[in-house]
Amino acid sequence: MKILFVCLGNICRSPMAEAIFNKLVEERELVGSFYVDSAGLIDYHEGELPDKRMRSHAAKRGYYLTHRSRPIEMSDFDEFDYIVGMDNANIRSLSNMIINEAHRKKILAMASFLRHYSSASIPDPYYGGSEGFQRVIDLLEDSCASLLDWLLERMERT
Ligand code: 4NP
Repeated sequence: MKILFVCLGNICRSPMAEAIFNKLVEERELVGSFYVDSAGLIDYHEGELPDKRMRSHAAKRGYYLTHRSRPIEMSDFDEFDYIVGMDNANIRSLSNMIINEAHRKKILAMASFLRHYSSASIPDPYYGGSEGFQRVIDLLEDSCASLLDWLLERMERT
């Protein structure tokens, strides 16, 4: 099962989601069942490591972010089983890129998987303070766990 996390710049939210999801996959001994990657809707930060602030907040919780930013490509819609956007603007941009119904079915909203927190999106932390980065991690730890449960349920059924 191949999962692609998508945000605007691919230097804060989506590489964080990728690291959290990968850690859950390792903890649950599911390595080999999932291939996880992340991408951005803009190529402005292409080749860069995640934002220093995101990396430092991540490290405090035991996540080490090594992903290099890359823009999403049309081939990702064929390559991946699910493409998970962080906010409504991301979902709109993804919806505007796709060319068929099979692609549409792959697009998921990260916030729709929240169980313990209530938020309409995973808010962009880029222009804010450190609480925003911590909030991103809180929201993504919650939603990644529930996304993984949802995917496992679907994989068992097929
Ligand atoms: P991200 O955060 O989408 O979570 O990676 C942002 C990173 C960069 C920019 C905006 C949001 N930017 O405008 O460069």
